[in-house]
Amino acid sequence: MAIETQDGILQIRNLNLSFGGVKVLHEVSLSVKAGEIFAIIGPNGAGKTSLLNCINAHYRPQQGEILFQGENLLPLKPHAIAARGIARTFQKVELFRGMSVLDNIKLGRHFLMRSSLLGSFLRWPPAVADELRHRQEIEEEIIDFMGLSGVRYAIVDTLPLGVRKRVDMARALAMKPKLLLLDEAMAGMAIEEKEDIASYILDIHRDLGVTMVWIEHDLAAVMDLSHRVTVLNFGEKIAQGTPREVQQNPLVIEAYLGRRRGDS
Ligand SMILES: Nc1ncnc2c1ncn2[C@@H]1O[C@H](COP(=O)(O)OP(=O)(O)OP(=O)(O)O)[C@@H](O)[C@H]1O
Ligand SMILES: [Mg+2]
Repeated sequence: MAIETQDGILQIRNLNLSFGGVKVLHEVSLSVKAGEIFAIIGPNGAGKTSLLNCINAHYRPQQGEILFQGENLLPLKPHAIAARGIARTFQKVELFRGMSVLDNIKLGRHFLMRSSLLGSFLRWPPAVADELRHRQEIEEEIIDFMGLSGVRYAIVDTLPLGVRKRVDMARALAMKPKLLLLDEAMAGMAIEEKEDIASYILDIHRDLGVTMVWIEHDLAAVMDLSHRVTVLNFGEKIAQGTPREVQQNPLVIEAYLGRRRGDS
């Protein structure tokens, strides 16, 4: 996967989302450059997960634009967005319980298989065998890349959180994404597990050239690993810049000190 050079692989413009009159996102705009590790931070309930949910069509914003490589994503269904090359991991790891690591990763490719496998079969049956073999190779590569070879047949429920998070990342990577959306890759982890995940984030960026939008509460990790940071608070973007710029921004400091809107 080559790093794309053009600016703005993902562009979000004036996004507005509300539920029953409650504003969750208000006029949020941002542009993620190809090859970036782009972090989104902000207090609980700021709208971070909702923003990812809009990108992959789990939520439908009332207003705004989301462009991926110049294409408007809003009319597309989640599987079509996945097929364009956008994969995600979840805040609460969502794996298929009772199934092995390998089977969970295989299911990661399910979206792509549905359309392209039928296409191959219609063209020429032997192409199906070739395609299946190719997929098996990809799955094995990803398992190896994410350090999961030793647990490939383990049932996911039996694994510690740090390993399940890696399985979730492997499942997403098996879709060969151009853009990976990570929702709190390090939540609930011990320091060693966080360091482990940090090194995988860097490997995914360096070796696979995948652009990442990464929601994270661990600010030290964000400061170390990300290229740029956007800060959401009460559904609004209050700051954006390099980690250092954002860290020094008075609005960000205030948001993190816990002052609520309207407090004097
Ligand atoms: N499906 C929904 N229906 C109604 N309200 C929702 C829905 N999804 C999110 N919200 C509300 O939107 C707000 C933002 O939630 P969201 O989960 O995006 O925040 P977050 O920044 O990811 O927070 P956290 O850091 O705790 O994960 C919250 O007030 C939440 O209750
Ligand atoms: Mg969230």
